[in-house]
Amino acid sequence: MKKILLFILPILIIIGAAFTIFGTIQVRFEEEKLIDDVQRKAKSIAESMELSVKHVLENNDLKNANYLVEKFQTRERLQGCVIYDKEGKVFAITSRFLDWKEKEKPYLREVLQTKEPRGEIEQFKEYTVYSYVLPIVGDNNSVIGLVEVIHDTSYVFTRLAELWRRISSTLIILVVLIVLISMFLHKQIFVLPVLRLTEWFKHFQKGETDANHPIKEKGELGKLASEVEQVALSLRVARKTMSDVASERLQKEELWTETKLRDLINAKLGDNALFVVSNREPFMHVMDEATGTVSCIRPASGVVTAIHPILCACGGTWISHGGGNADKKFVNSKDKLGVPPEDNRYILKRVWLSKEEEDGYYYGFSNEGLWPLCHNTHTRPIFREEDWLMYKKVNQKFADSVLEELPAQSPFIFIQDYHFTLLGEMIKEKRPDAKIALFWHIPWPTPEAFQICPYHKEILEGMLGCDLIGFHVKNHCNNFLDTANRLLESRVDTEKFSVVRSGKETFVRAFPISINGHSDQGGSGAEQQQQIEKLRQEFNLQGMIVGVGVDRIDYTKGIVERILAIDRFLEKNPQYRKKFVFVQLAAPSRTHIKRYHDLIAEIDELVEKKNWKHMDGNWKPILYLKRHFSADEIAPYYAMADLCIVSSLHDGMNLVAKEYVAEKRDCQGILILSQFTGAAREFTDAILVNPYSIEEFADSIRQAIEMPAEEKQKRMRNMRKIVSENNVYRWAANIITDLTALKKV
Ligand code: F6P
Repeated sequence: MKKILLFILPILIIIGAAFTIFGTIQVRFEEEKLIDDVQRKAKSIAESMELSVKHVLENNDLKNANYLVEKFQTRERLQGCVIYDKEGKVFAITSRFLDWKEKEKPYLREVLQTKEPRGEIEQFKEYTVYSYVLPIVGDNNSVIGLVEVIHDTSYVFTRLAELWRRISSTLIILVVLIVLISMFLHKQIFVLPVLRLTEWFKHFQKGETDANHPIKEKGELGKLASEVEQVALSLRVARKTMSDVASERLQKEELWTETKLRDLINAKLGDNALFVVSNREPFMHVMDEATGTVSCIRPASGVVTAIHPILCACGGTWISHGGGNADKKFVNSKDKLGVPPEDNRYILKRVWLSKEEEDGYYYGFSNEGLWPLCHNTHTRPIFREEDWLMYKKVNQKFADSVLEELPAQSPFIFIQDYHFTLLGEMIKEKRPDAKIALFWHIPWPTPEAFQICPYHKEILEGMLGCDLIGFHVKNHCNNFLDTANRLLESRVDTEKFSVVRSGKETFVRAFPISINGHSDQGGSGAEQQQQIEKLRQEFNLQGMIVGVGVDRIDYTKGIVERILAIDRFLEKNPQYRKKFVFVQLAAPSRTHIKRYHDLIAEIDELVEKKNWKHMDGNWKPILYLKRHFSADEIAPYYAMADLCIVSSLHDGMNLVAKEYVAEKRDCQGILILSQFTGAAREFTDAILVNPYSIEEFADSIRQAIEMPAEEKQKRMRNMRKIVSENNVYRWAANIITDLTALKKV
């Protein structure tokens, strides 16, 4: 519309200007004509009265004078008539025009002196009239009086206004016609062909055959479309070849790598790209309100850590909430951008949520409801009806956003986590051909615990819209099957590990998530040594035994228990005072929720209290660094640490444990790991603890410090082998292989 206005506006301005000039000239001309007409009429009336007025003045005949002036009353548009004596005093005047007497009339003297008639427009009260004054000359050639004819002029202005009105309406009609015709032509010549072409591109991009959607455009647009068609054809052929080569290479490789996963995806998905949906986005643009500088950060999230390398390996589209305060500045017209910013490997599509939507769906239902419901940490879940309604609304919003992107045939969609329990069903409603997997990154509770949720039925139904549901460990799969069996009318097949409901089958499998298996952060060995040295100097850590913890500040992470255990360890082992420092990196999280807000204050206070208790000179036992740390920043802390503590009270997997192991290239370190994490099933070589038992926990710290170096190395080597073999590429490969191989009832 803006463009068409730009085109029409100059034409309209020219037409408007032409009409104004032409109108002004015409009105002037008409005005002159009308005034001239009035003038002629007034003059002829005055002249027609001349003899009679002369007679009445010579005879001082007031009666006939009055008769004369009254006789004009009936004349159309004539206002009045006045007869003056030779002094310019009123002799007779039209009765309805008596007020005229009061008017100052300097021009009478002039006419008496010059003996020349005079005609002018005069203002009288609120009227504009035309006055014509004729001198009456006596027989001796002297002026014996005057006659003044006063003519109405209001009709002149009415006529002129009418003329302006006609000119303006013609102009308006012309403008409307020009706009309508231009819009029509614009639509026919530009908009419709471009719309047809866009539609064609859309089908084309989704991989629909050219036979179903042939190009209809001729001319230049047709040529453009045919060029695009050629490029796409070459791309299709290249993809097919890639997919064949990929299948061959797949047979040969042993360890799961980025390339092997790419090959698998090419072989299994062929033309179809992968679509990932998660709440948290992998790259967030954040503006520092104080300085106005924008930075692109990687949020502290297990989902992001795991999925990012997969999409880097095989491309695709990741759809998630654009939660950064500067996110909108970095997307194209379709809300997309290529990421990582420095080396675009896949597409990130951002979905925008209003404050109310984010409050209800994310903070409310997901994190005050489902999160505590699924984590066994004795925090009471809160379910509010308005949060649930918002949660449903946002799931639908994401479903619509995903549907917009899907290719024509059998798309693959990989949904992440508890934020999107309804998404599978919503997508299947419109695209039953889509293959959908949901991975649940947190624990799944028992049926007794799950039925606390007032919406448990809808949630289970929504999840069963997916073809495959993945959990980290077998135990969570069993809990889910029990829940479906107990709370929903469904058939659970314990042989196939599936749930059948209304003739639709959903498979349930354990896929322990992981990381990419090797350390790719923190630079080379020499570089990392420098970084470690810098940290030791900065925080007075030279010669110290260093422990590390890396967490989002969340009540499930057991940070409070960890501090209490360190305190108890120092109480029981005073010989480690001034020899041991625990560095806690803590990223504030979900801070709008009271429970999280309170936890931050509780930890601040506890760290302060325990540091004060044990402090000695410059030394204090806990170095609490509370801010967001990038993966690059965290790596040297892992590498420096003699021990790492992961003390979650309940955790689906916990990738910090795996990251620490992957970063310990020299195998000089030991992991203290909560037995309530998914990782504890794989890392039997870690020192497993019950974080609720502070005594046991404190003793495990001493055990970690005093464990012989060879023992530590042996355990670390075993754990590193697990991480490199069961890496995230294998995890994704297992899910995709299972999803593509599913044979339904
Ligand atoms: O699976 C749990 C999870 O969604 C992980 O991505 C991560 O551990 C954490 O929660 C992130 O939380 P949030 O995205 O709410 O900051």
